[in-house]
Amino acid sequence: MLLGPPAMSDIPRNRLGLPETLWWTEGELYLLDQTQLPLAVVAERQESIEQVSASIQALKVRGAPAIGVAGAYGLLVGVRAARDLPVEKFLALVESKAAWLGEARPTAVNLKWALRRMVEFARAQAPGAADSGALYDLMAGEARRIHDEDRELCRMIGVHGAELIAPDSGVLTHCNAGSLATSEFGTATSPMYVAHQEKVPFRVYADETRPLLQGARLTSWELQQAGIDVTLLTDNMAAHLMAQGRVDLVITGTDRVAANGDVANKIGTLGVAILARHFEIPFYVALPSSTIDFDTPDGGGIPIEERRAEEVTEFGARRTAPEDVQVYSPAFDVTPHELVAGLITEKGIVRPPFGENLRTMFQR
Ligand code: MRU
Repeated sequence: MLLGPPAMSDIPRNRLGLPETLWWTEGELYLLDQTQLPLAVVAERQESIEQVSASIQALKVRGAPAIGVAGAYGLLVGVRAARDLPVEKFLALVESKAAWLGEARPTAVNLKWALRRMVEFARAQAPGAADSGALYDLMAGEARRIHDEDRELCRMIGVHGAELIAPDSGVLTHCNAGSLATSEFGTATSPMYVAHQEKVPFRVYADETRPLLQGARLTSWELQQAGIDVTLLTDNMAAHLMAQGRVDLVITGTDRVAANGDVANKIGTLGVAILARHFEIPFYVALPSSTIDFDTPDGGGIPIEERRAEEVTEFGARRTAPEDVQVYSPAFDVTPHELVAGLITEKGIVRPPFGENLRTMFQR
């Protein structure tokens, strides 16, 4: 076990050579602190489920798939001290901790999805488990499977999506749906990483993504680290770039896809999709199937997180707005499926009609 925060040399790297977003070793959960990127590459051991929840809320770990995986391991952190309880009591604790952790952030469905999967797994295994310690070990195996599957699902998004990136084209993305937001290849970035591995020349335009700058701090950093040609722009520059004919394709990630194909993603995505329609640029959304919510019929039912006013009234630590000004800060918006050319998934690119095609491809 590591004592204190891991030094940079102790942070494991993934197959892209980028630092792991999170990892589980010797019964401990470590999260890369994404709030410190790109200035510092540091990770934190999570001592309690309360700390995991706070890390999710503070965006130390963020991005829909990554918070799902963090949730699965975070649940283990929350119940590991209770392994001497009788199985029935241990299971009740698993259920209540999972319900509590699932409230950390509302929009990305992956968090609740992963926690529900952990609880259902624990319920199914409990009758055959010798004691709570044995059940805990089985649950740790399930959390690892969620993590490993995410790695593979995201890689397959790239395998299917890379064909969209034509040689010498310009690809615009918003926020960070990258390696940092998932277990490895990212979602929106996965076609980029695969195309880059296939030596296709292309350039990426990364929207800065106000207010918390995931595009500037994270996407431009990770693509640069991976040797991909990336250019950073502020959010209000995208229209100009498109008007100049420099953008051939838009790919973003998503936090939740409703049953009809409406997609919630980082605030500003809707504006990019409307611009793309105006300039007749195909707008694609990349996701693993863990991001599809068949229980929510359309985007109107997706809960939208609102964030603290200070994230808008300050830039870094510096105040940039008058004291006491009223602020509205939704963290996500919903892009109607009519604006989406296709959903790039691990099983292939889903085309309209999305409702029907998503059901055929993914609903059991
Ligand atoms: O608030 P964040 O940084 O968690 O928002 C993340 C996004 O909007 C991503 O695009 C989305 O979660 C997909 S991540 C593969």
